[in-house]
Amino acid sequence: MKGNRRRETRIVHVGSHPEKFRGVMNPPVYRASTVVFPTVAALREASKNRFDTVYYGRHGTPTSFALEEAMADLEGGHRSVAVCSGLAAITVALMAFLKSGDHVLLADTVYDPSRRVAQFLDTLGIATSFYDPMIGGAIADLMRPNTKVVFTESPGSLTFEVQDIPAIAKAAHAAGAKVLLDNTWAGGHFFKPFDHGVDISIQAATKYIAGHADVMIGLVTAKNENDWHALKTQSALMGYCASPDDCYLTLRGLKTLDVRMERHQETGLLLANWLAKRSEVATVLHPALPSCPGHDVWKRDFTGSSGLFSIVLNEVAAARVEAMLDGMEIFAMGFSWGGFESLMIPANPTSIRTATKWQSAGPLLRLHAGQEDPEDLIADLEAGFARLGGAA
Ligand SMILES: Cc1ncc(COP(=O)(O)O)c(C=O)c1O
Repeated sequence: MKGNRRRETRIVHVGSHPEKFRGVMNPPVYRASTVVFPTVAALREASKNRFDTVYYGRHGTPTSFALEEAMADLEGGHRSVAVCSGLAAITVALMAFLKSGDHVLLADTVYDPSRRVAQFLDTLGIATSFYDPMIGGAIADLMRPNTKVVFTESPGSLTFEVQDIPAIAKAAHAAGAKVLLDNTWAGGHFFKPFDHGVDISIQAATKYIAGHADVMIGLVTAKNENDWHALKTQSALMGYCASPDDCYLTLRGLKTLDVRMERHQETGLLLANWLAKRSEVATVLHPALPSCPGHDVWKRDFTGSSGLFSIVLNEVAAARVEAMLDGMEIFAMGFSWGGFESLMIPANPTSIRTATKWQSAGPLLRLHAGQEDPEDLIADLEAGFARLGGAA
């Protein structure tokens, strides 16, 4: 959009081109496989510019271009690439910057399926090592001559360690490696990746960006043109593309991202502070609370917090935890997050940590604060704690 408008204004308008679509505010859903050309010259020209024109459905349509334009603006990057899931965005980003013989460092706290990508990289002759997410600038000691990528996720999955991205980026860049960030938790709202040294920002837009629990989509954004070209080329090679309907829904979700994120933040903080006072709770792992590893870094680098966090309970019998969770009336059990609904699942990070050791007396529960009335959510939790204590 024209002019130097503030973010809250841009997010509403960027990607909308009513002048191109007969005044229609939302870019329509373009379903396309075949795209036809009137002349051989036009066909030749389109194939030369296949990443920028409507050339073949898989390479992009006006619907995906509009979403990519909006996402790049939101993240503050050069350009984005839309793919079919958050995990696809992660694999595209890794494959774009790694080749046989290279080495990649992954935070020990990455989303579990991102960890498992390491097994696939191994088959391609790409070595992986995991590092303590709290390592900061000392990551310099782990860099090898062939380290080409440092993969970060901040806060980390399940345990929410906040990484010192600027310190990691400084060390990675000094050694010639790219910094990739899974930026899904902040939802494009509470963390500016490219102001903190990140080269590639990944969003599982399935979560907050689409925001309604009904879309699988990933967006990967590069800070500069060369890196964007590498991402787009990789995504084209792998045959990845996002469905036009999902691009449409994601762009629609993006328009209300700001207000939704503020509500997720407000309710998340309210629940986290309430939970911190409960005798059944040993720790609250919420980046905005001092009990979370990396809280000071969060205060320095983030502008707020989303609705996803964990609690660690005091030691308790597994059957009591099941009674608590099975009886929840509002909090549902499900693996994705970032939609309108509140969620709570049990998780055990022990087997998915290798560079660090997960130790806790009691079980971990991951919560997502949705858009429901916070007092109703607290009543649901209160009843859950009664079952945990054996009162029901
Ligand atoms: C932090 C994080 N990154 C990536 C993903 C993968 O996203 P998707 O489910 O869209 O593949 C998830 C999904 O839960 C996630 O939590």
